[in-house]
Amino acid sequence: MALLVVYSCCLFLAQAAYATAFSEGNLEWCSHQCTCLNNYRTVDCARRMLDHVPSLSNLTVNLYLDNNRIERIAPETFQTLGNLMMLNMEKNAIRTAAASYFCSLQNLQILNLGSNKLEAFLIPDNLTADCKLPSLKQLILSNNRLSALPPNLPNFTPSLKLLNVSFNTIRSVSFNGSFSMLMSLRVLDLRGNQIHQIMADDFAGLKAIPLNTLSLSECGIVHIEPEAFHEMTELASLSLSRNLIGYNTLEAIFTAIGNDSQLVQLDLSEMFLQNVTASLLGMLKRLSILDIFESSVHYVEPGLFDLLPELESLNVGHNELHELENVGALKQLRWLNAEWNHLTELDLTDLDALQSIDVSGNQLKMLPGGWLGAKENLQLLNVSHNMITSIHPEAFAGLSLQQLDLSHNWLSTLNDTGLQRLRKLNLSHNRLSVITPQLFTNVADTLEDVDLSHNNISNFQQAPFKDFISLQELNLAYNRLGRALGEGLLCDIFSSMGHLQQVDLSANEIVQISAGQWQHLHHVNTVALSYNHIKRLGDASVIELTAVARLVMDYNDLSAVDVDVLDKMDYLEEADFGNNPFACTPCVALPFLRWLNHSTVRILGKADRQRYQCYMPPEFAGQYLLDYHPTIPDADCKPHRERHRSQLDWTMIAVAVAGVVVFIILVTVLFFYTQICQKIKSLHYRWQIRYREVSGVEFTNDPKV
Ligand SMILES: *[C@@H]1O[C@H](CO)[C@@H](O)[C@H](O)[C@H]1NC(C)=O
Ligand SMILES: *[C@@H]1O[C@H](CO)[C@@H](O)[C@H](O)[C@H]1NC(C)=O
Ligand SMILES: *[C@@H]1O[C@H](CO)[C@@H](O)[C@H](O)[C@H]1NC(C)=O
Ligand SMILES: *[C@@H]1O[C@H](CO)[C@@H](O)[C@H](O)[C@H]1NC(C)=O
Ligand SMILES: *[C@@H]1O[C@H](CO)[C@@H](O)[C@H](O)[C@H]1NC(C)=O
Ligand SMILES: *[C@@H]1O[C@H](CO)[C@@H](O)[C@H](O)[C@H]1NC(C)=O
Ligand SMILES: *[C@@H]1O[C@H](CO)[C@@H](O)[C@H](O)[C@H]1NC(C)=O
Ligand SMILES: *[C@@H]1O[C@H](CO)[C@@H](O)[C@H](O)[C@H]1NC(C)=O
Ligand SMILES: *[C@@H]1O[C@H](CO)[C@@H](O)[C@H](O)[C@H]1NC(C)=O
Ligand SMILES: *[C@@H]1O[C@H](CO)[C@@H](O)[C@H](O)[C@H]1NC(C)=O
Ligand SMILES: *[C@@H]1O[C@H](CO)[C@@H](O)[C@H](O)[C@H]1NC(C)=O
Repeated sequence: MALLVVYSCCLFLAQAAYATAFSEGNLEWCSHQCTCLNNYRTVDCARRMLDHVPSLSNLTVNLYLDNNRIERIAPETFQTLGNLMMLNMEKNAIRTAAASYFCSLQNLQILNLGSNKLEAFLIPDNLTADCKLPSLKQLILSNNRLSALPPNLPNFTPSLKLLNVSFNTIRSVSFNGSFSMLMSLRVLDLRGNQIHQIMADDFAGLKAIPLNTLSLSECGIVHIEPEAFHEMTELASLSLSRNLIGYNTLEAIFTAIGNDSQLVQLDLSEMFLQNVTASLLGMLKRLSILDIFESSVHYVEPGLFDLLPELESLNVGHNELHELENVGALKQLRWLNAEWNHLTELDLTDLDALQSIDVSGNQLKMLPGGWLGAKENLQLLNVSHNMITSIHPEAFAGLSLQQLDLSHNWLSTLNDTGLQRLRKLNLSHNRLSVITPQLFTNVADTLEDVDLSHNNISNFQQAPFKDFISLQELNLAYNRLGRALGEGLLCDIFSSMGHLQQVDLSANEIVQISAGQWQHLHHVNTVALSYNHIKRLGDASVIELTAVARLVMDYNDLSAVDVDVLDKMDYLEEADFGNNPFACTPCVALPFLRWLNHSTVRILGKADRQRYQCYMPPEFAGQYLLDYHPTIPDADCKPHRERHRSQLDWTMIAVAVAGVVVFIILVTVLFFYTQICQKIKSLHYRWQIRYREVSGVEFTNDPKV
């Protein structure tokens, strides 16, 4: 009782203190709907399901109100927040916004109203001179329903650097002379609007300002008058991707931009270009990043590359190119992406700056010697999804690649690649059946990730896995290693992989993994054995995997899960035994079901009735395993092994009893035998006597004797 009084007293005092603090203008307080950090300067009210802006201390500098359900902002909401510099109201349901709501935010630098339902951002003509956001640098209005650019914006936000009005329904972009007041504007994102046409003087107001980045992607543009970009001298990045602008229009635009273009980055992806020629892009001498991705390009004029000496990144992926010539002219090229074309060869010998090459999805049949030259800087080479059957021993000579993707090719054997310092090697989806010991000689100690899945490997010759001191992931799934694992022929493959963390042996026709093969894997935490034919956990020797946290054994032939084994795996956190043919008989299923009830190990997909089904006996087939509730008293269901032992005991008793019986019989027989013998002997004796008596009579009766 006393405690209660004290407690309510305290509560009252606290409330009183709070009230006075509030009324006396103590600024250091935080709405209970928000989290305040950094001395009440950062107020986080994001993701609170708020439908209004809570009261805020005027100390607030950064205010996060994103991901709520706010539908309207009251005109006075932000009036006291003179210190606010960042206001994030992204992802709410605000329908209208007006300049007047924000007039008092004299220090605001970033205003994010993206992903709302704004149909207008009202900035009236008669805006008073002091309703301005003089510090605003970024205005984000993307993903709204604006049908026009906010009129009078230049008056309201004179220092704007970035205007993002992407993904609205703006139809016309007429930046008249008033926009030339936005002297600081550098980035304008108009992506995802419905502009369709751009007239020669639409950007007139932007020509006086040093606009740097302009995105007009996905605007349904079909026509641009050539002079539209004329005199936009500072423009460095232009994106026209995903529009249907024809070759001739583009040529006219770039010609108008002219020889003194500052364009550094150009995105012409997902258009319908067909030809990329010197007369189209040759004047863009400063070009450094060129994206022409998925633009139905059939032909790239070799002479073009002579005119683009500063190009560092070229993406011509997903086109119809049968050849790509003169790439060697691009001396500064660092990233080359030519994936998914029809290239049968590519000469990259003279490109010393290259860091990353992606020629996946082409029709390369072989990698010839020295096709890359010696590239100090090259780190990633992706030649996956080609038809490579052979790799010249000198193909990678002098490279110090970190990552090599050779997956989805037609390699049936692979020798030493000559590579050094390789960290990731992907050879999956080839036809390898023989892994020669030389393959890994120079890279074993640096490799971290090796993918040999989806090949035809049934054994390893002469233990190729030597000195794999860095290896963390090894994928051997979809091979034919089952027999070798069963016979223990692979004892050595893991022996130098002390740091291995993940190993995948799924789909290898494994019935058994003989004891001792896991023993070197002290750090392995994930083992996948899906799609094999393992009948009992013990058959896969998983008990040796003491450090494993994740064991995946779905799609095997397990009729039961041996909980004794699981209990010995101290670090097990999750396991997958789905899609196994579980036997729903009390003695087999009960231990696992009980274990499930108390174990902290997460069983993946446990709730999925399709994955954990009874298979046997027939009357339970198809039933959800966890719905199986046998009503069998415990005494009838001793664990398998004990029953076995008691059977053994009974047999021994029976044998002993039988022995005793036989012994008794023998003794009896012996006894009787001696008795009978005696009797027979004496009978015989007596018979002899009688015989003599009889013969004596006969003698005496025979006159001749
Ligand atoms: C913050 O509000 C208090 C009253 O609640 C006022 O005294 C103080 O001047 C305000 N400070 C600023 C910077 O607006
Ligand atoms: C601006 O004009 C509107 C009508 O167009 C009027 O209602 C409003 O009071 C005016 N505001 C100022 C500050 O003059
Ligand atoms: C504009 O907003 C969109 C959507 O939020 C975003 O993806 C894009 O990167 C932004 N543009 C710029 C230039 O920041
Ligand atoms: C620009 O257009 C707006 C309306 O869209 C108009 O109010 C303004 O006067 C125009 N400014 C110039 C300089 O033409
Ligand atoms: C651009 O430069 C090329 C040669 O570099 C020249 O032939 C061409 O006339 C120039 N075009 C313009 C419009 O200056
Ligand atoms: C592309 O160039 C080839 C010649 O290289 C020409 O025959 C073809 O008409 C050009 N296509 C377009 C759309 O300009
Ligand atoms: C190589 O290219 C293929 C196909 O384009 C892609 O799926 C794969 O992720 C790439 N590999 C690397 C390592 O980037
Ligand atoms: C692999 O290369 C070694 C030399 O590094 C050579 O002796 C051996 O014959 C090659 N094996 C195959 C299958 O090409
Ligand atoms: C190897 O390549 C295959 C197919 O491209 C891909 O599925 C797999 O994730 C890659 N392996 C690694 C380790 O990146
Ligand atoms: C897999 O290798 C075996 C020999 O180990 C060979 O007989 C078989 O044809 C190979 N299968 C494929 C699909 O290459
Ligand atoms: C597991 O727990 C559920 C509910 O808590 C219970 O219905 C079920 O009988 C238990 N199963 C076993 C095997 O103990």
